[in-house]
Amino acid sequence: MTRKGAFIVIEGLDGSGKTTQAKLLAAKLKKSHGAVYTAEPSRGKIGKFIRNHILYGEERPPTSVEALLFAADRIDHVQTEVAPALERGQLVVSDRYLYSSLAYQGSAGLGLQWIEALNQHALKPDLALFIDVDPETVLGRLRRKKSVMETLETQRSVRQVYLHYVAKGDLTRIDGNKPKKAVAEQVLSAVTAFLGTRS
Ligand SMILES: Nc1ncnc2c1ncn2[C@@H]1O[C@H](COP(=O)(O)OP(=O)(O)OP(=O)(O)O)[C@@H](O)[C@H]1O
Ligand SMILES: [Mg+2]
Repeated sequence: MTRKGAFIVIEGLDGSGKTTQAKLLAAKLKKSHGAVYTAEPSRGKIGKFIRNHILYGEERPPTSVEALLFAADRIDHVQTEVAPALERGQLVVSDRYLYSSLAYQGSAGLGLQWIEALNQHALKPDLALFIDVDPETVLGRLRRKKSVMETLETQRSVRQVYLHYVAKGDLTRIDGNKPKKAVAEQVLSAVTAFLGTRS
């Protein structure tokens, strides 16, 4: 049997449970699909630069520069981690991907088409899930872990961009307001349904 790799991305607001759900999903599908967890910003040099100088940096560059850096990190991430795993037939679960750029830099005022253009060569995910949690709820969850991107107003406008891509059919919405286990069940059933369509 030749296994076909699959690229699944998990999106959502800060504190929506992406890392929790992406890791649970990768663990659940490790034996059956060789699933691996990965994340953006990546572990590579550009990813590290983003973490040190943008997410938690004192002085942020213009949004357009941020978008370029995230797009560069995305290409690096796909080339070094995602594509090799897919070629081995593994299922890759990425904690954030392209829609994070669209949602965050888009809500910061950059045109969505401009961001889409920058990312036109980035590998398309096979399935993209949006874990939707009320902005008020995520801020409560994140009280101890704040980065510059996390005010209520920001979270609300970021969510609107995500919902735009849900409406377009690019993202599948998961109700993330429920307990972790219930969210995990919805994630797994969306992934199982997707895997079923291709076998
Ligand atoms: N469904 C849930 N209900 C309640 N708490 C949750 C739920 N999912 C995750 N949490 C808790 O919320 C916090 C944030 O979760 P997590 O780190 O998975 O979110 P995240 O989306 O990866 O956040 P970030 O964007 O900051 O990386 C953690 O303390 C986690 O245990
Ligand atoms: Mg996380």
